[in-house]
Amino acid sequence: MRNQKSMELYDRACRLIPGGTQLLSRRPSKFAYGVSPVYAASASGARFVDIEGNEYIDWVSGIGAIILGYADPVVDEAVREQISKGTIYSINHELEVELAEELVAAIPCAEMVRYAKGGGDACAVAIRIARGTTGRDKVLFSGYHGWHDWFLAANLSAGESLDAHLFPGIDPTGVPKCLEGTAIPFPYGDAAALGELLDNHRGEVAAVIMEPLRSAWPPEGYLAEVRKLASEAGVVLIFDEVSTGFRFSPGGVQPVLGVEPDMAVFAKSISNGYAMGAVVGRREVMEPAARMFISSTYWSDTIGLRAALTTLREVRRRNVPEKLDQLGRTLQSRLSAVAQETGAPIRCEGVSVHPQLVFDIDDAAVKQKLSTLYIQEMAKRGCHGYTSFYLNAAQGDAEIEQTVAAARETFRIIADGLACGKIDDLLECELKEDVFRRLVT
Ligand SMILES: Cc1ncc(COP(=O)(O)O)c(C=O)c1O
Repeated sequence: MRNQKSMELYDRACRLIPGGTQLLSRRPSKFAYGVSPVYAASASGARFVDIEGNEYIDWVSGIGAIILGYADPVVDEAVREQISKGTIYSINHELEVELAEELVAAIPCAEMVRYAKGGGDACAVAIRIARGTTGRDKVLFSGYHGWHDWFLAANLSAGESLDAHLFPGIDPTGVPKCLEGTAIPFPYGDAAALGELLDNHRGEVAAVIMEPLRSAWPPEGYLAEVRKLASEAGVVLIFDEVSTGFRFSPGGVQPVLGVEPDMAVFAKSISNGYAMGAVVGRREVMEPAARMFISSTYWSDTIGLRAALTTLREVRRRNVPEKLDQLGRTLQSRLSAVAQETGAPIRCEGVSVHPQLVFDIDDAAVKQKLSTLYIQEMAKRGCHGYTSFYLNAAQGDAEIEQTVAAARETFRIIADGLACGKIDDLLECELKEDVFRRLVT
């Protein structure tokens, strides 16, 4: 078995750690179980090495956290320098103000800033501020916003509210039942549905929080209409930019979309892999936070602050969004061409900085098998990923060439398997579970 040592380690983990991993997306069952890599030993640039010593191109980029590349020399040197001065103090550090100034200069809606240590953490801060500022309790959401009670409360009533936003079957066990009815989903792309919800809950909604996009552009005029509806209802509009991050522009995705929310949430790519999150927003909605209890020791840890400041400056200096756009376009056209050449019913589409494979197959069960087979065969050829790609700036020609060569063989296996009705025989692993399936794909 390619990953025997890892699977043994995972067995030990499952006996000690409920669920085996800290993040659902890192569970081996999310990939090709028994084939895909599970435990990393090291990473550098665009690649990592697992504990068995196999090297992989990483198309998941630390679940989006890596934007410049692993072990980026500039960010890591800045962090090392920071470590040598101590990382956290009994008093505050200038970096808090410096980073706030950088964020305010770069992000259109940003006038004031608070920090956190991750995406879910930052979303919870944003929701607290929106509730405190408006004096209202309910939240309308679209997309995925972390593990906290305010969000998971959505599944207390119907039990399926999160199906289209995360994945089906999320049990809200442990979330206080009294939160029922406080988090309400709305379908992405349908402004009329959001308008209706705002009407039905008039005067009760604190915030509309949404992923403004993920791997497809929003329908024409949709976000401007959302902006208008939120303003009319006196609701705080929050863009959750945790996953889009700074891949679209050094000011996040807002400058590209041309719509300004009241607040925005960032984490992951903000700091190239160091724990960090930020909530930014207009002065009017952020300032009341001074009177709310929103306070945590490690939010002023200087490693995250220094990593974020350096990462944001490097994203701008190296023109990273433009580089990722080019890389994504090349990947899309090369993979689509290989699919045509081999006769596999596959296209590579989506926004350029987040390409996605689309399987042109109607039967959902067969589609699931094909995506698992794709992950399995690509893993065997040294390419780790889902059927979508998180880009980072260390990926380049060598990664494209190796991935296209692996895809040519993989797509051929898929095309032949379909032609002979032998897909089941080709699967060496259990079927992968739904990765975080989202409304915003
Ligand atoms: C849009 C969005 N919001 C929030 C989160 C949660 O971030 P974290 O895992 O850092 O808590 C994620 C993570 O995938 C995300 O994609």
